[in-house]
Amino acid sequence: MTETQFTPRVFSGIQPSGGLTLGNYLGAMKRFVDMQGPDFETIYCMVDLHAITVWQDPAALTHNTRELCAGFIAAGIDPEQSILFNQSQVPEHAQLAWIFNCVARMGWMQRMTQWKDKAGKNQQNASLGLFAYPALMAADILIYHATHVPVGEDQKQHLELTRDIAIKFNNDFGVDFFPITEPVIEGAATRVMSLRDGSKKMSKSDPSDMSRINMTDDADTIAKKIRKAKTDPDALPSEVDGLEDRPEARNLVNVYAALNDQTSDQVLAEVGGKQFGEFKPMLAELAVARLSPISTEMARLMGEEAEIDRILARGAEKARAIAAPILQQTYEIVGMVGAKQG
Ligand code: TYM
Repeated sequence: MTETQFTPRVFSGIQPSGGLTLGNYLGAMKRFVDMQGPDFETIYCMVDLHAITVWQDPAALTHNTRELCAGFIAAGIDPEQSILFNQSQVPEHAQLAWIFNCVARMGWMQRMTQWKDKAGKNQQNASLGLFAYPALMAADILIYHATHVPVGEDQKQHLELTRDIAIKFNNDFGVDFFPITEPVIEGAATRVMSLRDGSKKMSKSDPSDMSRINMTDDADTIAKKIRKAKTDPDALPSEVDGLEDRPEARNLVNVYAALNDQTSDQVLAEVGGKQFGEFKPMLAELAVARLSPISTEMARLMGEEAEIDRILARGAEKARAIAAPILQQTYEIVGMVGAKQG
């Protein structure tokens, strides 16, 4: 599809819309940390422009952006090794998104399940930004010529659209300019489910706080939520086949596996035959052991606002150094007078 060799580069983003969950941690952040290293350049973004596609209280947005940055660092993202910044501070994202608004088709956007879910029955009253959201997401990725994008399962359709936009741009202009990005949706917990209903995704917007574990929950709260998590009366099976039609059991096993860097099969080889009365305390202990150091470090970093702001500003500078020349080349390809090769 593309002949050009692109630098192996990871990009991913999280919305600073408040309340990081265990789903965000296992499906995204923990995997972002795993991808840091010699194989990739890593770029991680607090996507504040995406967050405002639905109403955000300004003071809360400020707080949540800093808290998310603290979360990234506490989880193990090293701002020296990875580029860490907030989206609005790199204007090239929005500039490329406009070009992509002119490449993507209305029909493509209308098919997005997240648009349909979020806009609900009253699409006429949803913001234009919410509709165009996936074009901005494509711009986030392609403004860095990113080759790999680690995300949870729920972002798969958006990444397919990113590929479609890159392909159409390359075809329309007869170039081999944007990479066809690889989604990286891997591991035991690409879709962490609600603790109250194994058919629903764990989400910060669920009205029940008992449905999720928040990265800011204390040890007692984490243990209580796991103790009260919905399960079935059967013992755990010894193999994953035995989890079929048992969504709540499957979810808790997947969470255990992801927290412990194991596969679900490995976990079941150890805990098969146990009742939930025995397994839940094991899971609670593991979750507290893994999450408490992160929440403690997040709280400490939140006391150092100036340092967080400095890290974000420095990250934005480094991000712009990559994004600006790619935007200029895009403008040049499109035929805009004044654009010169960066
Ligand atoms: P957001 O902010 O909703 O979620 C951030 C990341 O967390 C993952 N995630 C989950 N993974 C497993 N189980 C869950 N229950 C769960 N809940 C959330 C998401 O899949 C995501 O990886 N549109 C994106 C943000 C974005 C982005 C990008 C991502 C904007 N531009 C460019 C990648 C590349 C979003 O709303 O994620």
